[in-house]
Amino acid sequence: MDILRKLEHFREEENKLKWEGTFAEYLNILQERKEVAQTAHSRVYEMIKSHGQTKEHGYTKFRFFENEIFGLEDTVERLVNEYFHPAAKRLDVRKRILLLMGPVSGGKSTLVTLLKRGLEQYSRTDDGAVYAIKGCPMHEDPLHLIPEYLRDDFYAEFGIRIEGSLSPLNTMRLETEYGGRIEDVLVERIFFSEDKRVGIGTFTPSDPKSQDIADLTGSIDFSTIAQYGSESDPRAYRFDGELNKANRGMMEFQEMLKLDEKFLWHLLSLTQEGNFKAGRFALISADELIVAHTNETEYRAFISNKKNEALHSRIIVMPIPYNLKVSQEEKIYEKMIRESDMAHVHIAPHALRVAAIFSVLTRLKISKKQGIDIVKKMRLYDGENVEGFNSVDLEELKKEFPNEGMDGIDPRYVINRISSAIIRKEVDAINALDVLRSLKEGLDQHASISKDDKEEYLNYISIARKEFDEIAKKEVQKAFVYSYEESARTLMDNYLDNVEAFCNKHKMKDPLTGEEMNPDEKLMRSIEEQIGISENAKRAFREEILIRISAYARKGKRFDYKSHERLREAIQKKLFADLKDVVKITTSSATPDENHLKKINEVVARLIDEYGYNSISANELLRYVGSLLNR
Ligand SMILES: Nc1ncnc2c1ncn2[C@@H]1O[C@H](COP(=O)(O)OP(=O)(O)O)[C@@H](O)[C@H]1O
Ligand SMILES: [Mg+2]
Repeated sequence: MDILRKLEHFREEENKLKWEGTFAEYLNILQERKEVAQTAHSRVYEMIKSHGQTKEHGYTKFRFFENEIFGLEDTVERLVNEYFHPAAKRLDVRKRILLLMGPVSGGKSTLVTLLKRGLEQYSRTDDGAVYAIKGCPMHEDPLHLIPEYLRDDFYAEFGIRIEGSLSPLNTMRLETEYGGRIEDVLVERIFFSEDKRVGIGTFTPSDPKSQDIADLTGSIDFSTIAQYGSESDPRAYRFDGELNKANRGMMEFQEMLKLDEKFLWHLLSLTQEGNFKAGRFALISADELIVAHTNETEYRAFISNKKNEALHSRIIVMPIPYNLKVSQEEKIYEKMIRESDMAHVHIAPHALRVAAIFSVLTRLKISKKQGIDIVKKMRLYDGENVEGFNSVDLEELKKEFPNEGMDGIDPRYVINRISSAIIRKEVDAINALDVLRSLKEGLDQHASISKDDKEEYLNYISIARKEFDEIAKKEVQKAFVYSYEESARTLMDNYLDNVEAFCNKHKMKDPLTGEEMNPDEKLMRSIEEQIGISENAKRAFREEILIRISAYARKGKRFDYKSHERLREAIQKKLFADLKDVVKITTSSATPDENHLKKINEVVARLIDEYGYNSISANELLRYVGSLLNR
């Protein structure tokens, strides 16, 4: 079995990474690879950098976030440049709690989870290796063993600054287990793992009344007090709170502002001083990056409360707005669907795009700039060219509302509506119209949409609908014209034969009966009318075509329907007009004739093979375009 072999391989790799040795041996490692002793903040930053970066349109794009976080390049860049980077350099921001503030379902948790997974991964690489005092529940930094009075000497020799003091537990172990011989203390390589509670912690506030500080800082182990004789013996304490476990790595605080104040103070002391208080012990040093998140309402309530004033200055707030680019929004939905139980459902082309158009419109603010309506703004934001506007205008637009993206429709709403559309439809295929309809119907149930909002949102749904109508017509036309390459050629040859006969005043021969007949005036006009050639102008047009044909012939080239731009347009339009009839007839009459059916089937096949439809959605599309054409 493949999987068993892989398991074995995995175990081998794990074992290869393991390392254990004495403190003295650990110093050998440090001598060669200083970065092993870096701080938690620096480790996070180096981890992000290790995935590489590119410069694009004036901003730095960090590849680490690339396939997970969409459309927030400037937010991410700011996060790295204003927090992770300076914090890694031990600048003052490190002493503040990083608070991600943004609207619901805007990707805050996703961002933090990504960092956590990234760190776990990084700790398994050479560059990201982490070492700790063996057997310590807080995986304490071995360098804490170096006594305070030797740290300057240590810096002189190794160029590494040591922060924090040896914990009560390890102070005691040093004496009892190692007889005070620091160089003998065992050190091991550790691997961050949220599941195993190593270097990654998460805290979610529960009901404020039942919140227990022990969840953060650990608690006395009553079963061992008898053995050790006292509550203040560190061996009788379980250092298993989230703050203990997250030491050396990072700690996530979900919904931080729901926390009880006394919890917040612990956090502040930890970020500010690098230590926190647990049980009856002296302060415990810890090195961890604290990242919290909250929504805007909670944040406003928090800062408007005078009592919290002292806390403000110790928090660094990073706004995480919604994505404002339609094409990126589509990617968010694709990802969410891939990860959901809808992954098997056929989603017709453009279905996610129309939903994305709608969502982005609800998030944009209407500009006061001349000549820029909300649809144009949407296109500019998505990097499209809009006539009369350039990148300078785009930058100005972005600056017009610094708070843009902090409200509007959230991605989860869209995904929920898509999922309810699927349930209702009972076939595993949904299209753009199903999605728009479902988005519309859901507005009534949406908790945070006011009456005014709703009106506006309905308008955005109809804008999205119009966009779709255009896309749908064009797509069917394209599919039709293509699968009629052959028909186009035949029609063209037919037209040219008639034009030739007309200009030379010949009769034509019926290919079957051999009978003589006049050129088919009706056929020629039906093509010429497509490009607005009047009855009076028809002769000139036909003669011009004839001249072109002989010019081609002289050069030994074959004149076909692509050789003449206007004629080509006329032929395509004529074919599409025929399609209208075909579609109209097929969708309206119960028994379309065989010829029509054949044509329809060809277009359907083309839509499936080349444009990503399946037979349900392709037929739905044709029927819809048919109804549009019937209007
Ligand atoms: N900009 C974005 N890039 C990628 N995914 C996003 C983005 N915004 C939202 N999502 C997706 O929306 C869902 C909700 O996001 P989440 O991180 O839980 O939001 P929050 O914590 O801000 O409420 C997740 O599935 C997430 O992947
Ligand atoms: Mg969240």
